Amino acid sequence: MLWDTFDPDEYIKRNYLEIQSVDREILTRVRDHFRDHFGKDGGRVGSGIDVGAGPNLYPALAMLPWCDRITLLERSESNLRYLRSQLSGYDANWDQFWEVLKSGDDDEGQAYAELGTDPRVRFKEAVQEPVAGSLFDLCSGAERWDLGTMFFVAESITTSLDEFRRGVGCFMSALNPGAPFAAAFMEHSEGYRVGSQEFPARDIDRAEVTSALKDYAEGVSIHRMANPKQLVREGYTGMILACGRRKH
Ligand SMILES: C[S@@+](CC[C@H](N)C(=O)[O-])C[C@H]1O[C@@H](n2cnc3c(N)ncnc32)[C@H](O)[C@@H]1O
Repeated sequence: MLWDTFDPDEYIKRNYLEIQSVDREILTRVRDHFRDHFGKDGGRVGSGIDVGAGPNLYPALAMLPWCDRITLLERSESNLRYLRSQLSGYDANWDQFWEVLKSGDDDEGQAYAELGTDPRVRFKEAVQEPVAGSLFDLCSGAERWDLGTMFFVAESITTSLDEFRRGVGCFMSALNPGAPFAAAFMEHSEGYRVGSQEFPARDIDRAEVTSALKDYAEGVSIHRMANPKQLVREGYTGMILACGRRKH
């Protein structure tokens, strides 16, 4: 299966070994969105999900103060192996991402800082054994989550516009009414390479993201990041971050 050939080490080397300014910006916006939603008094919900987690722990880190349990859903066996290897103590490169979450003025990063000096303890408690499965099965499944993230998945697993839309719909369908979410997308991606393996992508833009979310989301803010100096990955024109809530 194509997704089992995904090489987590190569992907991390290219994207997440050294934090990039675009990920810093995404993380800051996601942190602020969750903080604004849950208030400054440390409100917390039961469950969060990161869909298509791959070898990226920062969406889960962003959810850490806000929910008791975190599900990592992933299709690729190699990425599942990587995720399992991180549960009992994640690698040092993720510390840079945690630093962004707990920084900021006044109380911006307070909920993160309050988790103590070693977030690995909370990560180990909250993050469940990664689940092997597909985004597209979330539509038909009965389980619902109170908080959700999906980073570079719906547009980065297919060339089909219909599948992209269905993927966004399935992600949103997995959330309880009112649940806050953050979803990130590559803009106008032509596909991407991890090591020597090519992966497909659907060329989408801000209008397409807005339209795919329309029936499912409320309070949506969409931010496009397109500083040419930040184009760390090839064959795309920028990144799009959508933050909002599942419609009631
Ligand atoms: C471009 S990577 C993004 C990984 C990670 N979320 C990130 O932010 O870097 C796409 C991920 O989607 C996973 N994937 C592919 N098909 C999937 C599906 N049907 N359901 C869930 N995840 C899938 C891949 O294995 C891969 O980990």
